[in-house]
Amino acid sequence: MKALVTGCAGFIGSTLTDRLLAEGFDVVGCDRFSDYYPRDIKERNLEGAISHPHFTLLEEDLLQMESFPEVDYVFHLAAQAGVRASWGKSFEVYTRDNVQATQHLLEYYKNTGIKKFVYSSSSSVYGDADLPMREDRMVQPVSPYGVTKLAAEHLCYLYWKNYGVPTVSLRYFTVYGPRQRPDMGINRFVSAVLHGEAITVYGDGTQTRDFTYIDDIVEANVLAARSDVSGEVFNIGGGNQISVNDLITAIEAAVGKAAKSRAHRRAEGRRAGHPGRHPEGGGTSGLACQDRDRRRAGTLHPLDRE
Ligand SMILES: NC(=O)c1ccc[n+]([C@@H]2O[C@H](COP(=O)([O-])OP(=O)(O)OC[C@H]3O[C@@H](n4cnc5c(N)ncnc54)[C@H](O)[C@@H]3O)[C@@H](O)[C@H]2O)c1
Repeated sequence: MKALVTGCAGFIGSTLTDRLLAEGFDVVGCDRFSDYYPRDIKERNLEGAISHPHFTLLEEDLLQMESFPEVDYVFHLAAQAGVRASWGKSFEVYTRDNVQATQHLLEYYKNTGIKKFVYSSSSSVYGDADLPMREDRMVQPVSPYGVTKLAAEHLCYLYWKNYGVPTVSLRYFTVYGPRQRPDMGINRFVSAVLHGEAITVYGDGTQTRDFTYIDDIVEANVLAARSDVSGEVFNIGGGNQISVNDLITAIEAAVGKAAKSRAHRRAEGRRAGHPGRHPEGGGTSGLACQDRDRRRAGTLHPLDRE
């Protein structure tokens, strides 16, 4: 079996690459090593894969590629991640890497007979939706990033509907674990507590997150690829809620040190007077409804974790 993993040098893409190689896949990884965070972190992410005989790295920009490898599965993780940076001028990068690159990839694979195209979407598509967030409810992102992730999800549906490309979109709820991106909450908080630096919290810290362990995200990708479900969207969430304030308290307990101080900042783009909620998931509190996961294919439900 052969797979293309886009965004293979990133947090999730590199972890998925390692898992696929361990399962005996031939993996072609594509990444443009964008400068959103340091290149050496991405090189470290790929340390295991790079010497593996069944791994090929294409250091390429998806949008510049005229053809793609012949594969059985496409795992499309490449994106410009991050909610806070998606406002203003940098929206161009988000539309380019998240929307146009997805269309380019789908257009190429539309007549190639791939077995599955698994797209990494985000809980940020939900915006301020009621909790728990359900896949069958109206979605209204409240960040430019969320808008681009939703647009790409719609493209996946469109290419399934029109061309029968077997796409599945997975809406991840904030992912944590080894290799987590340096801009993400847990990474920033642990680092600040360890180094005795002040912690910046966007909003008042009462917003909640549904954190999902990286191995469960990887498992969901593998199961989605093997399932016979297409043209659908699934939440991939841990199913638990914790406030950002409680998360920091838990990190302090784990590290055995109190944070120097907690500064609260209003989140960019939120209206004055509006509670400044600003999780990675897109500006809202998040909690995945797990029903659809349990119903379909008996497959996509992540493992229970504390
Ligand atoms: N980390 C999370 O909590 C989370 C939550 C929801 C959704 N997601 C989604 O999961 C996917 C992976 O996220 P991550 O946290 O691993 O991010 P990441 O930034 O670590 O990895 C993304 C990788 O994609 C690459 N890339 C971007 N544009 C590209 C292009 N045009 N061509 C080739 N490579 C390109 C980047 O260089 C980067 O290495 C993304 O699609 C993201 O939107 C992540």
